Amino acid sequence: MKKLEEKISQAISLEELEKIRIEVFGKKGILASKFAMLKDVPPSEKRAFAQGLNNKKSHLQRVYDEVYNRLKSEEIEKLLKSEAIDVSLYSNLETKGALHPVIETMDRIIDYFIALNFSVEDGPKIEDDFHNFEALNLPKNHPARDMQDTFFCRDGGVLRTHTSPVQIRTMLAQKPPIRMIAPGAVFRKDYDLTHTPMFHQVEGLVVQKKGEVNFANLKSILSDFLHYMFGDVEVRFRPSFFPFTEPSAEVDISCIFCKGNGCRVCSHTGWLEVLGCGIVDPNVFDAVNYKDVSGYAFGLGVERFAMLLHKIPDLRMLFEGDIRLLEQFR
Ligand code: DAH
Repeated sequence: MKKLEEKISQAISLEELEKIRIEVFGKKGILASKFAMLKDVPPSEKRAFAQGLNNKKSHLQRVYDEVYNRLKSEEIEKLLKSEAIDVSLYSNLETKGALHPVIETMDRIIDYFIALNFSVEDGPKIEDDFHNFEALNLPKNHPARDMQDTFFCRDGGVLRTHTSPVQIRTMLAQKPPIRMIAPGAVFRKDYDLTHTPMFHQVEGLVVQKKGEVNFANLKSILSDFLHYMFGDVEVRFRPSFFPFTEPSAEVDISCIFCKGNGCRVCSHTGWLEVLGCGIVDPNVFDAVNYKDVSGYAFGLGVERFAMLLHKIPDLRMLFEGDIRLLEQFR
């Protein structure tokens, strides 16, 4: 028995210990063969014999457990050491990151307006009905609310469907004149080649004394902006409708893929729609208690700009997190 104990104690690996375990404790092992001898022991000695054997077995089991635990933690220790990351290790492998094209495009847009003295404003992504709809001349049950597939929160809040509510927040917090943009994420229940439930917009708003800004100013700044973004393109303003502006327009550029000749991207129209804009509706100024002012506003989708600038065919690619997309932007 002493020899068995020694054998177990001297095991140097879990593998060796397992072999010993089978040899000693296994069905056909040393202990089993000792127990088998019980049948040849005279009845009067059976009890003492069995008891002695059981004691030895428990003792060996304790020795075994001890050795097992020691070897097991040594193994884990070894594994931790071998798998540890050496942060001091020098590597000359180049692994440069890249700005995500949406962020890069957003930065470019922001740069343009900062240079023209616009401030950059921010607002919450979880909005309330007042800022997202009501104050923007979108009363409850107004059919124009259907234009936007809203995510509603349980407590009555909404995930903002556009960055226009930041107009309202800024006007409520500041006195005119206002000259601001509001970049940020917005949310709509939509998912296909050109729509994702989260995307980014940049909103713009200029408010001055009544009569100081007009549609010509809006046309001028947006035309210049689109030339800055897309280079030598034609720009056209098309009458449209938004509840918060009157009159409203949508802005197109001549298709940058076919130079206006007609292709698949522009649905053979020669034009790409890139912006919404207009003269701020008096009802919006009423909602924020602004008097004797006039202003213009505009809104654009950043992903749409990024897709056009970089010829990205599917909007969803921008959100799949595939490193191969980013690698192309180094
Ligand atoms: N909020 C509009 C949208 O999400 C975009 C927009 C259009 C904003 C016209 C404006 C505007 O400020 O005047 O589709």
